[in-house]
Amino acid sequence: MATLQISSSSLFRYFFLTLCLFAIPSLSSDSDPLQDFCVGDLKASPSINGFPCKSSVSASDFFFSGLGGPLNTSNANGVSVAPANVLTFPGLNTLGLSMNNVEFAPGGVNPPHSHPRATEAGIVIEGSVFVGFLTTNNTLFSKVLNAGEMFVVPRGLVHFQWNVGKVKARLITSFNSQLPGSAVLPSTLFGSNPTIPNAVLTKTFRTDDVTVNKLKSKFAV
Ligand code: GLV
Ligand code: MN
Repeated sequence: MATLQISSSSLFRYFFLTLCLFAIPSLSSDSDPLQDFCVGDLKASPSINGFPCKSSVSASDFFFSGLGGPLNTSNANGVSVAPANVLTFPGLNTLGLSMNNVEFAPGGVNPPHSHPRATEAGIVIEGSVFVGFLTTNNTLFSKVLNAGEMFVVPRGLVHFQWNVGKVKARLITSFNSQLPGSAVLPSTLFGSNPTIPNAVLTKTFRTDDVTVNKLKSKFAV
């Protein structure tokens, strides 16, 4: 009997350890690379996760000039984002990181959004920006940042930025994913295709069809 008890507790310990070891990769963001690099072949369809590697590479695969701006911010939000992710810069494939250049007109807002696959870190390059993120219990953490100051947004949390200065503002943001994804709340909720039924949105927002239709008309694709 005693032998049986010892062996079942060892079995439990073994089982628990195995479970922990299997859990480790799922605690990280993108998985670790298994080779020096794997420049993404965007013409091939994505396999299980990410893109297959290009068979021949050159120096140009590892450099990207798309973050320099200036961007055109004449749009409803007064903001424009240039991404350097695996889709624009395939050299990032399997490397688990990406960056954005975000430019704001005075008063411009990068609307509330979240990145399902990455934590974000950013630095203000120009201007004064009100930066905020919300926890899952609706606490807002926010601060006005100036050039040279940095912020972080924990993975998946809703966040936004607002240029509170009188001149243009600019951020460089970075992510621990080659393709962080972005769910932009206003367009996700009011500009989806097909649209979310009005019954859902009127009840959710405690409002009426007129208001929901007005919002839908602003975000229609
Ligand atoms: C800013 O929030 C960004 O996603 O680049
Ligand atoms: Mn973001």
